[in-house]
Amino acid sequence: MAYFKYKGIIFPHQFYSVETLSYLENDFQLLDDDIVNLTYPKSGTHWMSEILSLIQSQGDPSWVQNVPLTERAPCIEYADHLQIALKNPSPRLLTTHLPLQLFPKSFLHSKAKVVYTLRNPRDAMCSNYHFIKGFKELKGPGTVEVFMESFLSGEVGYGSWFDHVKGWVEMKERANIFFNTYEELLQDLRGSVQKICHFLGKELNSQQIESVVENASFHKMKDNKMSNFSLTSENIFDHTKATLMRKGISGDWKNLLTVAQSEHFDRVYWENMRGVNMTFPWE
Ligand code: A3P
Repeated sequence: MAYFKYKGIIFPHQFYSVETLSYLENDFQLLDDDIVNLTYPKSGTHWMSEILSLIQSQGDPSWVQNVPLTERAPCIEYADHLQIALKNPSPRLLTTHLPLQLFPKSFLHSKAKVVYTLRNPRDAMCSNYHFIKGFKELKGPGTVEVFMESFLSGEVGYGSWFDHVKGWVEMKERANIFFNTYEELLQDLRGSVQKICHFLGKELNSQQIESVVENASFHKMKDNKMSNFSLTSENIFDHTKATLMRKGISGDWKNLLTVAQSEHFDRVYWENMRGVNMTFPWE
């Protein structure tokens, strides 16, 4: 069986274990100067890791050009990346897709700063539909219809998009969490970088901000083998079947869903999001 469920959420055995997930939830200590890049999968995780790395290095691109993203901002729920995170010097950049209920409990008493990036779930789903085809040992997406049903019912890795968002939105009054969206990054990367710097208490001058914006652009990242996923082993990922840096736009879901599928998505979206006290650019 390639998958297991942890507290009701699907994870593939290939990358995750009950031991690691349980350790993260109960024992992993967030440090007050940690910066956590938090997303639901396919919402701009790598992009935010690159932005945060560049902010960390005051706009100097040599770190992102020479050190793999997985070492700069390790994803803590992968056992081997967790080991990197535990060894990295402070202030650490950490990446995770964990929903609130599986997130380290140490967060409750920590000043660690969380940057939560959301993306139109239609685009996150569409991006994942294409990306998942590259993983050699994971179940392929199947038809769009089947994949959409799995996505809408939360029968996908990391569970339901709706539960993820609703869980984290509950934390929005905390001073140490910052919400932003993929769509805002696309629309005004410079403005977003300035807001993130402000949240992190980092003062970058305009030249440094300019360098963050330039080096985190889609084309720079696509050409940077430290950041574009191309270092992922051929044993795990077939780079001829899928790519991380695919289109980098919003609205590509329109090329995937039929009108009837998109209407069904809308219905399920609003059934789930009724009463959520936050608005998003795609609404
Ligand atoms: P698409 O598949 O729609 O192109 P994640 O990092 O969470 O896995 O998300 C991957 C998505 O982010 C992909 O979307 C990818 O193209 C997009 N992305 C990555 N870096 C980007 C950048 N610098 N600018 C715009 N989109 C970017």
